[in-house]
Amino acid sequence: MNLPKTPFYYYDITLLERTLQTIRDVTQEDSQFCVHYAVKANNNPLILQTVAKKGFGADCVSGGEIKQAVAAGIPADKIVFAGVGKTDDEIDFALQQGIGCFNVESMPELRVINEQALALGKIANIAFRVNPNIDAHTHQKITTGLNENKFGITIPQLIRSIKEAEKLEGVKFCGLHFHIGSQITDVETFKPLCECVNELQTLMEENNIWAPSINVGGGLGIDYKHPKQHPLPDFEAYFKIFRENLFIRPGQTLHFELGRSIVAQCGTLVSKVLYVKEGVEKKFIILDAGFTDMARVAMYDAYHDIENLTPETQTQQYYDVVGPICESSDVFAQHRLLHVTKRGDIFALRSAGAYGEVMSSKYNSRELAKPYSTQDFDLDAILKEQ
Ligand code: LLP
Repeated sequence: MNLPKTPFYYYDITLLERTLQTIRDVTQEDSQFCVHYAVKANNNPLILQTVAKKGFGADCVSGGEIKQAVAAGIPADKIVFAGVGKTDDEIDFALQQGIGCFNVESMPELRVINEQALALGKIANIAFRVNPNIDAHTHQKITTGLNENKFGITIPQLIRSIKEAEKLEGVKFCGLHFHIGSQITDVETFKPLCECVNELQTLMEENNIWAPSINVGGGLGIDYKHPKQHPLPDFEAYFKIFRENLFIRPGQTLHFELGRSIVAQCGTLVSKVLYVKEGVEKKFIILDAGFTDMARVAMYDAYHDIENLTPETQTQQYYDVVGPICESSDVFAQHRLLHVTKRGDIFALRSAGAYGEVMSSKYNSRELAKPYSTQDFDLDAILKEQ
């Protein structure tokens, strides 16, 4: 078999299954834990079906994601719906599907959900997303839980908001929702979140409020530097932080919304070298993949491991690895030590399973990179044949 047209995404479904099973194994004893896969990280149907088969729920941020999650076999009552700007159509669709919970981000949104639920003769389960003003110690563009961020309601607004929700007949208050940020590599960062939840639980109890569910969002980071050595994040350490620091009440459920930590390492962006060009001070490798296929480096200065899969020699050199887009930010790596490269070599951009394919665009009238998986072909075997 020939290599498909590059660039393309290649997903290792065996690794995905192993990752999902590891989460199952380390939370086996925690019957009150419910893990939702954050669909925004990757909505590829095969990935969603694999997640569904393992019995996970979904965290969605649009009507489109809810549709995809349901189509993949994720039960609607295991779907939570977040987002600061839910449209009327999306709210209607979510109500009709009977999703598990709306994570409400403002009072105006709450009133709209209430009205639409009443019009449909339904009662919407709602949780308030609280902005805990906690620093996630991650990239500024993926920090969400600070006062300066647009997400959620503030702590001083919480009790008042719940009391108002309790008066509305189209909504049922179900709990609290948080999400402090993404690519959090030090799990200790989640401790202040646990403490905040504990304080708010006490505050709610003092106000005779019962919240059946607490949702702590996602955010667990992965090892972008050493994807081969660490294909799985330390899920044990992550869940342990919550087990030991967050005091769940009897009968309460604790929800997680993990995206990146589930799918990032199972995806690779495969690309071909178009040209190797000498600059004044640098050598450039020009790939046929650009930031339209993988925006993370241009958008968040992200680091992705890059490998020449077809080197002729073991000698190495420093290169800048760039894409073909007409913008200076279309750079995947600067001053990266790689095997000596020539036109036609095949490159792998690792850890591209999360926020890769989903964030691609058609800028410069480019075609979207197609997705394939280990169920379609064995990439290593094809490369060996060539
Ligand atoms: N829950 C909520 C409410 C979120 O906003 C997010 C991610 C997640 C869960 C999942 O977070 P994760 O477990 O994947 O960290 N495009 C950026 C990341 C944006 C994250 C947005 N929210 C990137 O490529 O780094």
